Amino acid sequence: MVAARIPEGLFDQQLPDRFPRLVNLYEKAKRDFWNETEEIDWAQEINLPPELREALARILSIIYYGERAALTIAGQLVGTVPDEEAKQVLACQVVEEAKHVGAFQRLLQKLDRIYPPSYFAKKLLTDLIATNDPCAKMVGMHLFVENIANHTFKALRDHIDEPLTKSVLDYVARDEKKHTAIAVLYLPALLEKQPAHRLAFLYAKQVKWLTYGVGMVKDGYPFARLLNVDLAAAGQKALRDHYRLRSQMSTTRGLLDVPGFDKVIDVLGKWANPSV
Ligand SMILES: [Fe+2]
Ligand SMILES: [Fe+2]
Repeated sequence: MVAARIPEGLFDQQLPDRFPRLVNLYEKAKRDFWNETEEIDWAQEINLPPELREALARILSIIYYGERAALTIAGQLVGTVPDEEAKQVLACQVVEEAKHVGAFQRLLQKLDRIYPPSYFAKKLLTDLIATNDPCAKMVGMHLFVENIANHTFKALRDHIDEPLTKSVLDYVARDEKKHTAIAVLYLPALLEKQPAHRLAFLYAKQVKWLTYGVGMVKDGYPFARLLNVDLAAAGQKALRDHYRLRSQMSTTRGLLDVPGFDKVIDVLGKWANPSV
């Protein structure tokens, strides 16, 4: 059996003071706490025809497994990142993701049912959980997956005329923005510390996750088409936002850059929406 890692600095006597903006985010996270049991009106009826219920439930099932993975990954990171300010904000994320899991369980049961994970969602999420390095894990979860999730939520929110779903997505989206902010505020400190020989590993992981991520979004295309939701347009927005987030980071050392990736999304989008 492998012994548990003792956190660096567990017995340090000086107060942590390296990340004041993470402390602000921690305060914001505590202020924003909401109770999904009480704040969402679960008694309201869902008025959607059966084929749209299934299509929506299939996309939300992909998201649901992402929420469960995010809960596990945030918990893993609490135990493995070296800085206390980051542990505190990630501990809030654990509670937030636990609520998202609960909210999607209730929504999916009311809507239709929980469908099995898609092939690529399973590959991506298991690899993120299995990765030990906290820096790589945070790149994959906070910079890639959380950003894609944000834009998928927004696309669903804008195109689905169903009040209960909109209400769940609104509450969840409020938290998810804080999770990409963790990447902006903390990831540079982890990237700076990566030894040069680890950068090749980090690049390889990003190539793998990007491939799986594209596959995961593509898995959702047939159902999104039924709902009139353009996931390729959401992908373009996520890509622009990815570069906006990177521009706010003090270093992008070790982060993968794929020039012309918007063209790849275009091609996939044409496949997904033959009428475009
Ligand atoms: Fe979440
Ligand atoms: Fe999240």
